[in-house]
Amino acid sequence: MAELIDGKKISQDLKDEVKDKVASLKEHHGIDVTLAVILVGNDPASTVYVGNKKKACEYTGIISKSYELPEETSEKELLELIDDLNRDKTVDGILVQLPLPKHIDEDKIIRAISPDKDVDGFHPESVGRLSIGVRGFVSCTPAGVIELLKRSGVNLDGANAVVVGRSNIVGKPMGILLLRENATVTICHSHTKNLKEICKNADVLVVAIGQPKYIDASYVKEGATVIDVGIHRIDGTKKLCGDVDFESVEPVAGKITPVPGGVGPMTIAGLMNNCYQAAVMKHDLV
Ligand code: GUN
Repeated sequence: MAELIDGKKISQDLKDEVKDKVASLKEHHGIDVTLAVILVGNDPASTVYVGNKKKACEYTGIISKSYELPEETSEKELLELIDDLNRDKTVDGILVQLPLPKHIDEDKIIRAISPDKDVDGFHPESVGRLSIGVRGFVSCTPAGVIELLKRSGVNLDGANAVVVGRSNIVGKPMGILLLRENATVTICHSHTKNLKEICKNADVLVVAIGQPKYIDASYVKEGATVIDVGIHRIDGTKKLCGDVDFESVEPVAGKITPVPGGVGPMTIAGLMNNCYQAAVMKHDLV
């Protein structure tokens, strides 16, 4: 039986730490932390995510400024809003919820956000800083995975870490962060040959391929730590599952994240931490 990695508990601890640090910033320096959250259109999933981000801001004492724009908002209008927020000295972080409507170029929007306010860590400058090991914002989900691993006592130094998935938001930064922890990292993807054999060699297996229950016990070494980044609704039900077939893998793994309640809650906790960091860096308090 694998030990469950409790993302709900660990994310709560992280949010409590951010809450204390935000309160201390106010008490000792009179500084508020402010996040601008932009939602374009009314995609139901995005509306839920943005609502959860605003709730987490409220919990941690971060001020959230909400910009809910209609679906028809033009790229130019969105760029103008970002430009205003970049200049606004009261705003520490800017988050544009993705995906954006089809007529807006996401890459252009990501690049328009000032790297100093890029709390999602998606700007090419943030990605570059991460790659060369310079302080900057790290994409919240992979940063959350590292916290889960460290706070669960998983040794990464010299470990064989395998990441399945190579997205810009999760797979690639995940690989770099594991490398930073001195793991030996393999990043796999849809063209990888012998995926099963490679996964079976992993001490730490991070799965982010976006395919429900893709990884079963035959991919997992006895005692390995398995982190499931996926989240899917099981057809016709209200139940959720991940990219890992939990029932199959749990008896084999040493430690495993559940879905829900594993990686998911860590993303928002990571965002809160990035907002705090943005304020600290703005005021040269590092
Ligand atoms: N859409 C899905 N995940 C994310 C995220 O982490 N940040 C933003 N901005 N949009 C998202």
